[in-house]
Amino acid sequence: MRSIESAELLDEPAKAIAGAVRSNLSGTLKDAVSGTWLGHAVHPLLTDVVVGSFTSATVLDLLGGWGASAASRRLIGVGIAAYVPTALTGVSDWADSEPVDDGVRRAGLIHAAGNAAALMLYAGSLLARRRGAQRSATLLSVAGAAVLGSAGGYLGGYLTLSKGIGADQTVFDPGPREWTAVSGATEVPAGKPVRVVADETPVLLLRDGEQLLAIHDRCSHRGCSLSDGEIEGGEVVCGCHGSRFDLHSGAVRQGPATAPQPAFEVREREGRIELRLRSTVAA
Ligand code: FES
Repeated sequence: MRSIESAELLDEPAKAIAGAVRSNLSGTLKDAVSGTWLGHAVHPLLTDVVVGSFTSATVLDLLGGWGASAASRRLIGVGIAAYVPTALTGVSDWADSEPVDDGVRRAGLIHAAGNAAALMLYAGSLLARRRGAQRSATLLSVAGAAVLGSAGGYLGGYLTLSKGIGADQTVFDPGPREWTAVSGATEVPAGKPVRVVADETPVLLLRDGEQLLAIHDRCSHRGCSLSDGEIEGGEVVCGCHGSRFDLHSGAVRQGPATAPQPAFEVREREGRIELRLRSTVAA
C-alpha cells in the first residue's frame, strides 16, 4: 500500500478524471449514484453483484465440470452488465474524497484500473467460451478473479475501512446524551451559524428568531464543517459538495450525503446555552 500511496505520477491523471467527474455529475444523477435516495451508499451494494458473479463463474470453471459452462457464461454476463453502474457509483464516491487525501487519490485510481483490467479478462473469457476454447476461458477467468480480488476487494476494502470513504462522518461522536453547556446565551448572534463544541463533538448552533437550532457540525458526507456553509430557509448547505440538511431534524434534503446529521435539543439556562442529542433519528 505504501508504494501505491506514495506514487506521485498517479496524481495528474487521477486529478483530471476526478475533476471531470465532479463537473459532470450533479443534481438528481449525483444523488442517485451516491445513494441519497436509499440512505446508504450504492457502490458497496453493486460491487457484491459484480464480484459475486465473476468469482462464482471462476469457481464453476474450476470445480463445476463441463456441465457448468452455461451457468458460468451467464454469470459473467451478469457481472459485465453490472460493471458500468458499479464503476460509476465508485468513481463518484472517490471523486468527492480525493482532493484532501493523496493516498485516496492514488489508491482509488489503481482500484479503478485493476477493476477495469478484471473486466477485460472476464470479457476475454466470455469470448473464448464462444469460440469453444474452454481452457483459455478458464485461465482468463482465474486471472480475472486474481486481479479482482487484489484491486477490487483489497483496495476497495482499504479505501472504505482504513480511509473511511463512504462512512458516516458523525458515527463515532454523535454528541452528548445529557444536557451539556456549550456557550453563553449572548455569544450566538441571530441568523449566523456558530460552531461550538459539546464534550468533544462539534456542533452547528443557529439562533433563528425565537428558536435555537443545533445539528452536528461535521458533514456526514465527507466531514466538512457545516457552520462554514450557507443557511437557506431552515436548512444548511454544505460548502464542499452541496449537501443540504434540515436544521431542525438533521435530515438530508439533498445529496450527495446519504446519512442525516445528529440533531440536538437546545435550551437556555442561567445565561448558558445547553444541548443534548435528540432521541429520534431524522428521516
Ligand atoms: S462534505 Fe460533501 S457535502 Fe458536505
